[in-house]
Amino acid sequence: MSKNERRKICSTTWPGRHDGTFAELRKLLDEKGVTAPVVLEVGPGAASKYLAGMLASGDGEKLSPLANRWRAVLRNVDGLIRRIPNCPLHSYEPGELLKFLPAGAKLTVADISEPVIRAIEKQYPQVCARVIDFTCETMDEPVDVVVCFCVLTRAMRPREIFENLYQSIRPGGVLVMDARSRKSFSTAEHVLEEMTGHIWRKPE
Ligand SMILES: C[S@@+](CC[C@H](N)C(=O)[O-])C[C@H]1O[C@@H](n2cnc3c(N)ncnc32)[C@H](O)[C@@H]1O
Repeated sequence: MSKNERRKICSTTWPGRHDGTFAELRKLLDEKGVTAPVVLEVGPGAASKYLAGMLASGDGEKLSPLANRWRAVLRNVDGLIRRIPNCPLHSYEPGELLKFLPAGAKLTVADISEPVIRAIEKQYPQVCARVIDFTCETMDEPVDVVVCFCVLTRAMRPREIFENLYQSIRPGGVLVMDARSRKSFSTAEHVLEEMTGHIWRKPE
């Protein structure tokens, strides 16, 4: 992927977006007695440090229409601010996911954006942060859990990314993803059993 194509990829996000699903994932891991899962989080995104504290937390449905609109405005402003060279970034998702994972979990966070990964390295030294383009790369060793929210719906080659994510899940492992991406970009060859609205299990 060219530098220009990379620049066009949006990575703005806001806090607490997937807490409900992360809680469901923890419940599932506890039920299965999994205490040390190997977890891959793809495309956590980030916001500029200047606006990170101003973006309202949680699902759009839980905000008033005005608060929702205001957050959308701030996100657009954030997109502009982030064009400033070396703009400092803040990434929420790895910390939010870590809060819900068992203490023995090993978390790798991957994003195509180098600035996002550099910010994650500073914020979360306990996490393995890697620049990976899942359009053409996959994990060397399949993992127990792949988390990937709101990446494919904005990507240029979402089907390739879905295939590489699927290959990154071990048999019996789970995929945690927005339902729209799962529905739009998987094929009949991607065998996945539905556990909840956002979690699917790959058969053994
Ligand atoms: C819109 S943000 C989503 C942020 C967050 N997951 C959320 O749900 O709000 C999309 C993220 O996916 C990353 N991304 C886009 N294409 C990618 C690819 N091919 N491989 C890895 N990461 C990618 C972007 O850099 C960005 O950080």
